[in-house]
Amino acid sequence: MDLNKKKILITGGAGFIGANLVLEIQEKYPEAEIFVIDNFSSGHFQNLSGFKGDVIANNVLNVDLDKFFPKLDIIFHQAAITDTIISRDEEQKVIYENIESFRNLLNYALSHNTHLVYASSSGVYGNSAPPMKVGEGEYPVNAYAFSKLIQDNIAREYFDLFEKKNLKLVGLRYFVVYGPKEYYKVTEKKGSLIWKLYSQMKKGKSPIVFGDGKQKRDFIYVKDVVRANLLSLNSKVNELFNIGTGKAISVNETVDTLNKFLGTNLKPEYQENPFKDSYQYYTEADITTTKKYLNWEPKYNLEQGIKDYLKP
Ligand SMILES: NC(=O)c1ccc[n+]([C@@H]2O[C@H](COP(=O)([O-])OP(=O)(O)OC[C@H]3O[C@@H](n4cnc5c(N)ncnc54)[C@H](O)[C@@H]3O)[C@@H](O)[C@H]2O)c1
Repeated sequence: MDLNKKKILITGGAGFIGANLVLEIQEKYPEAEIFVIDNFSSGHFQNLSGFKGDVIANNVLNVDLDKFFPKLDIIFHQAAITDTIISRDEEQKVIYENIESFRNLLNYALSHNTHLVYASSSGVYGNSAPPMKVGEGEYPVNAYAFSKLIQDNIAREYFDLFEKKNLKLVGLRYFVVYGPKEYYKVTEKKGSLIWKLYSQMKKGKSPIVFGDGKQKRDFIYVKDVVRANLLSLNSKVNELFNIGTGKAISVNETVDTLNKFLGTNLKPEYQENPFKDSYQYYTEADITTTKKYLNWEPKYNLEQGIKDYLKP
């Protein structure tokens, strides 16, 4: 779809993935009119350096969408509280805000003839057997992932309603995303594993690895994720799609790959996993339907993504 001259809202546009999407659309479609809603809870204004559009610095839940946007052509919904490691007391807020902001946007989109593409997560599969398939093994192990699954359940009720109006409604279950602009997420809790391992190894330190390092992840480069969002506007069906490479890589192998890239020979420092209860041990996407209906497949494997992203 040509996004020039389209009115586009990107929620969570100051965050890692949202900001990559904002700036890619701005570059590729200079005549697109882009709006960002972000409450800057985990995003950062520096991620939007070079952005020429408008920003509403507020919680999606508190924005009167009708007032601000009499018309929008497309919404890319990336905003969410993305903490997977939270206390029991924080769970209600995560679940409430993530689900209700989605519901508001969904109702706006349906009543204003707006396409809606939104971020879901591989977290919905919890520790089900890989490779993970949409519709199977959807048993999240933390409140964040639960909120994503409920979003998807709601979306399933709306796919046909959007279809009848010739509108796209597509949910993308990202696996473990890494790439530029995750820098501002980086705290003890956040930032991709790739970034965390790299930051330690770049300083010549042994990377800290939980457990025995045999746990596996399907790492997906942010440029592939951005492309999946754009392709969703041409999706053959309204559906949920896995966005991963289809190949799981262990944390030990990831350290090897980074060692090769950096020219180092650092051994992991193994530590007991403090997050055992809410942890996913093996994620791997089945991307058969993503290829078929979204016409998407990843362009970057881990080595290629790391080379594009990091400095040796
Ligand atoms: N990064 C990953 O590996 C990954 C994996 C699976 C799914 N996702 C999903 O992708 C989306 C983007 O994730 P990210 O990695 O860029 O995270 P991020 O934390 O960098 O970005 C989320 C952004 O949303 C904003 N935000 C949060 N709640 C909001 C609200 N109620 N109203 C307005 N703004 C709000 C934050 O300030 C932040 O800028 C999220 O929905 C996340 O659940 C990410």
